[in-house]
Amino acid sequence: MLESIKEDYLLSNKKSWDEVAPRFFGRTALPVYGPFAPTENELNLFGDVVDKKVLEIGCGSGHSLKYMAARGASELWGIDLSDTQIETARELLSAHRSKLNLFQGPMEKNPGIPNEYFDIVYSIYAIGWTVDLPMTLQQVFSYLKPGGTFIFSWEHPLHSRIVQEDTQLVVKKSYHDEGLQQCEPWNLPAMMNQLKLSTYINELIKSGFQIERVIEDVVITEEIKSADSAVWYTHQKASLIPATFIIKCTKKYGDQC
Ligand SMILES: C[S@@+](CC[C@H](N)C(=O)[O-])C[C@H]1O[C@@H](n2cnc3c(N)ncnc32)[C@H](O)[C@@H]1O
Repeated sequence: MLESIKEDYLLSNKKSWDEVAPRFFGRTALPVYGPFAPTENELNLFGDVVDKKVLEIGCGSGHSLKYMAARGASELWGIDLSDTQIETARELLSAHRSKLNLFQGPMEKNPGIPNEYFDIVYSIYAIGWTVDLPMTLQQVFSYLKPGGTFIFSWEHPLHSRIVQEDTQLVVKKSYHDEGLQQCEPWNLPAMMNQLKLSTYINELIKSGFQIERVIEDVVITEEIKSADSAVWYTHQKASLIPATFIIKCTKKYGDQC
């Protein structure tokens, strides 16, 4: 059970996400993992997904699920907090209705998703919105078949603690401070978990996952530089610290735990 304060945060986050969702449609979706990160075309973390059952946590507008459909995944499942996102994803994926299952709800709870069912569970730039990482990882672990894969990307924990002031980077917040905080670039109520990279790794291990890869690499091409008009993510900052991290891990078989 979630504490009531976390339930309140989920309610206000849902309201805000329903409002801002149109600005994010397809913004961070596979093959993109996140700002300045190598793409799936370069990393090939998923491998062959033909006939694989996949579930996306924080599926947003459904663009990553569409990518999975184009690569031959046999079932497309998704969960997202926002009704607006789920409605958009349903429309975007209408051609795949027979293999589509979408749920509106928080990733911290199971809304009726089968256990030990999925070959791959993944999440592209959504996991950091969890108000309770251990609860979320517990759900993800239960959804996966033994030996199944969990891949996720999120903003690198250094990114929001260090800000760019002209040509210099300044540490504005301690890396050591963790917990639920208002998401800085948003002017709507939006509580997200500020965690360390080691916390993600240790919580995965505690949940029973075996870490396969941790990626903090940055890719800055001339094309990216000239298209870079964002304020929150800049190529100057990304050339010094990572903007995104990606983790691939496996649900260990029972006898390996
Ligand atoms: C940056 S978007 C991810 C976009 C997605 N990768 C796509 O392809 O559209 C983050 C998503 O997380 C969802 N979200 C936020 N908090 C959540 C929660 N507690 N449980 C489930 N989804 C959540 C938001 O509604 C939003 O759709």
